[in-house]
Amino acid sequence: MCGIVGYVGPQQSQAILLAGLARLEYRGYDSAGIAVIDADGELGMRKRAGKLKVLRDDLLEAPMPNGTTGIGHTRWATHGRPTDENAHPHLADNDKLAVIHNGIIENFSALKAELVAEGFTFLSETDTEVAAVLLGRAYRTNGGDLVAAFRVTAARLEGAFTLLAMHEDHPGLVVGARRNSPLVIGLGEGENFLGSDVAAFVEYTRKALAIGQDQIVAITPGGVVVTDFDGNEVEVEPFDVTWDAAAAEKGGWPSFMSKEVSEEPEAIANTLRGRINNGAVEIPELDGLDGLFEGISRIVVIACGTAAYAGQVGKYAIEQWARIPVDVELAHEFRYRDPVIGPDTLVVSISQSGETMDTLMAVKFARERGARTLSICNTQGATIPRESDAVVYTHAGPEVAVASTKAFVAQIAALYLLALHVARVRGTMSAEAIAEQVDELEAVPTKIQRILDTESARITELAHWMADTRSVLFLGRHVGFPIALEGALKLKEISYIHAEGFAAGELKHGPIALIEPGQPVFVIVPSPRASALLHSKVVSTIEEIRARGARVIAIAEEGDAAVLPTADEVLRIPLAAPLIEPLLAVVPLHLFAMGLATAKGLDVDQPRNLAKSVTVE
Ligand code: F6R
Repeated sequence: MCGIVGYVGPQQSQAILLAGLARLEYRGYDSAGIAVIDADGELGMRKRAGKLKVLRDDLLEAPMPNGTTGIGHTRWATHGRPTDENAHPHLADNDKLAVIHNGIIENFSALKAELVAEGFTFLSETDTEVAAVLLGRAYRTNGGDLVAAFRVTAARLEGAFTLLAMHEDHPGLVVGARRNSPLVIGLGEGENFLGSDVAAFVEYTRKALAIGQDQIVAITPGGVVVTDFDGNEVEVEPFDVTWDAAAAEKGGWPSFMSKEVSEEPEAIANTLRGRINNGAVEIPELDGLDGLFEGISRIVVIACGTAAYAGQVGKYAIEQWARIPVDVELAHEFRYRDPVIGPDTLVVSISQSGETMDTLMAVKFARERGARTLSICNTQGATIPRESDAVVYTHAGPEVAVASTKAFVAQIAALYLLALHVARVRGTMSAEAIAEQVDELEAVPTKIQRILDTESARITELAHWMADTRSVLFLGRHVGFPIALEGALKLKEISYIHAEGFAAGELKHGPIALIEPGQPVFVIVPSPRASALLHSKVVSTIEEIRARGARVIAIAEEGDAAVLPTADEVLRIPLAAPLIEPLLAVVPLHLFAMGLATAKGLDVDQPRNLAKSVTVE
């Protein structure tokens, strides 16, 4: 969702702002704008509904004076339609103050009424303009002190926000504040940056500071000062950005999604790297934290969307290896009931972005209830890991396409490492048994690569044939069930086709009524070597739906001959232990969703209505 960039330094800022916004495009947006203080100390602003290109073209056609202090924004509409007027920045204080915002200000109606009663007027329907006007008023009543004005304003705002502002009276200063919404600082030489995430400035600096909740940051070319909402200066934790700018480029691939699917082997290899030693799992981030797992009676996994499906796969591994009951909960449902959690509960959150508001709020809620919290996250310096007692990073690298692919497999790999770690701490597995699973995990990247090498072309062809399909069903059992859900989500998300995933055993309890002649159904077939019984049940399911005219595409392990007479198509995955299969079976489904969306001529990286980072509840 909304992308934010700020710059102060010696360089002309427009190009930096536009490049930063381009790097944040993946977050999803429907309008864009920038504001700059020019060499004469005048504040200029330009904003347009539509993609960044519209704004760029507009600036080319009618250039705006450049300057060395600037802020930029991509907006994903919440309050008010995506129009030029509602785009950010919003101006206040006689157009001398420019403000951009990410988040939702929940009490904006009441604040607006208060300001209207005082005679202030508004040009947009947004909550952001209310914050801008409030900030402008506070600026005046606080003697032109922008930081003090932020403190006063922040105290009035309810909800989630990252706010950035600059004022004509203070060239060379950008001030930002955050509550439950992301903001990171990029430290340069004689220049400094602000961004929704490090992608905004990674081209210029890889030194960053992650500012905490309820803090205000003031950047000038020579320095960065961070204070809390009471005005006390606070120490912030610096970190080195490990992603380089090239990692967030397409690098010759037709889309980010195709690049990211091709990086699934590497995402897993990098997530395992440095955490396995001689067949034992050693997660440096959990060193000295064995206490986190002692005396826990239950694990609750909280996440949304694809990350929640990774959690569902992880449940099988944690329960089987570490012998602890695991519940997987959608983060947005979790805190709106009265869940039974407390000090003996470990809440594991999973989030690629580390900024998903639903997940963040659930983590905070869990902490308030006394639970211990561990985050599995792909983004350094993100809010969720910083709100948690511990973090295990997935090292999938930047994921730019809105639909999650490589982060999903990396999340499962991280959960498996965690499960084996907890199994060791609790003594539920022998060192030999752990080493066996570790071997299996280490073999996954090569096996995925084999699927990519041998099945991609056929899957793309299959997707082409099916470009006019109106509905696709996905079936799986055991760990194949969450994979069926993931296959369906990915397809609907990027190809806008109706798709549903079911537990294969559930079919007879209702969904089989959907089967009519020609209905395509993907079936994830478990290995017959692991459980002949489960395998035969799934083969029977295939027969039942084939008898009713379904067109079956089976995903089955190499050498499984039983599926051949029953399925219309068989996509092969290499042999693996049962818990490893989901990491393989999902690859053809990612390829299929991408192939079908491409065949329909759709933008696979930025599907309609969706944002990469869902930073509002
Ligand atoms: C689907 C997808 C979403 C995310 C979900 C959580 O392809 O990407 O369902 O998985 O929005 O996002 P994170 O992992 O950033 O918390």
